[in-house]
Amino acid sequence: MADDTSFYFGQPGDASEPVEFTFEYYLDYRARIEAESIFAYHEEYGRTYHAYHSGSYHMPNDQNEVERLNDQYDVTKIFLDDRLYLSPLSRENPPRKIIDIATGTGRWAIEMADEFPSAQVIGTDLSPIQPVLVPPNLRFEIDDGNEEWQNGEDWYDVDYIHFLSTVAAWSDWQWMIRTAFSRLRPGGWLEMQEFECDIASDHAPIPADNPLRLWFADLTLASERAQRPIDVIPDLKRLFIEAGFVDVHEKVYKIPINGWPRGKRLKKIGKMWQQCLMEGLPGFSYALFNRWLEVPTTQIEVSLVHVRKALADKSTRAYQRFYVVYGRKPEFG
Ligand SMILES: C[S@@+](CC[C@H](N)C(=O)[O-])C[C@H]1O[C@@H](n2cnc3c(N)ncnc32)[C@H](O)[C@@H]1O
Repeated sequence: MADDTSFYFGQPGDASEPVEFTFEYYLDYRARIEAESIFAYHEEYGRTYHAYHSGSYHMPNDQNEVERLNDQYDVTKIFLDDRLYLSPLSRENPPRKIIDIATGTGRWAIEMADEFPSAQVIGTDLSPIQPVLVPPNLRFEIDDGNEEWQNGEDWYDVDYIHFLSTVAAWSDWQWMIRTAFSRLRPGGWLEMQEFECDIASDHAPIPADNPLRLWFADLTLASERAQRPIDVIPDLKRLFIEAGFVDVHEKVYKIPINGWPRGKRLKKIGKMWQQCLMEGLPGFSYALFNRWLEVPTTQIEVSLVHVRKALADKSTRAYQRFYVVYGRKPEFG
């Protein structure tokens, strides 16, 4: 103890120095303890999962997942022709406030902050897996998108709100879209870029008992039980319109699931996408199937053998749909 007005109050990582106790210190201390707890990842199935609001999201957040997200982002950039958005944003009239909900590794947010250096960009996520060295106009916040969004100036009158590959994260997509609407400025844009959780083919219908389709059906059922519905992606456009958005556009990309296409570009995309799906299968399956379908982990692993084979089967000429839906909040009314 230094004197009567200060006493020992253990600091994380430094137990030796006495500190003066003030209310400000207490708030700062609590904030630091909370900040440290977001790194106390939950470990299960040989993977780690987010700690903040633990159990909300069923995909891991470890290095394997970070690499998978990077690979997925690379494929996305190729089929979007290097574009970060389809909404009509312009450098002449740049957005001032941008929010990327569920930013993951933050790559999109970093590139967006570089593209619009005068904008304030925020990327949110449950997991602190974003890099520290980022453009000065970008910050990351740990936040649960399923709960009341944050207050603060940067969270209102937003010019552009973005979601990329957030399927299985939200309990109520309609609420997410309405909340985004309420946080945009009149004339601001919401854009969702999401994968549909099924495969299709223009060659011949893929039977429902195809192992990959069965896997997607299981994923859909498990996600529904976990209150994270994933079968809403084809309905996004309607949900935008119901929420009050105008000028709503929907563009659907067909992503080959392996290297079956003849064309060089699509073949490359297909090979990359097959690799991404392969990498993602265990992470997608373990927590959802074990917790919500009560399938033992050994059985999950065995079933994935068939799913991998179906994924590599070029004869089905299968693709997965990727939806980009964007709409504008009306200027008046
Ligand atoms: C498939 S990743 C996509 C990340 C990033 N948008 C990208 O495309 O690389 C989904 C992300 O959603 C985050 N997430 C899941 N539930 C969330 C929630 N309730 N609030 C905020 N982020 C959430 C996960 O932590 C994960 O980083």
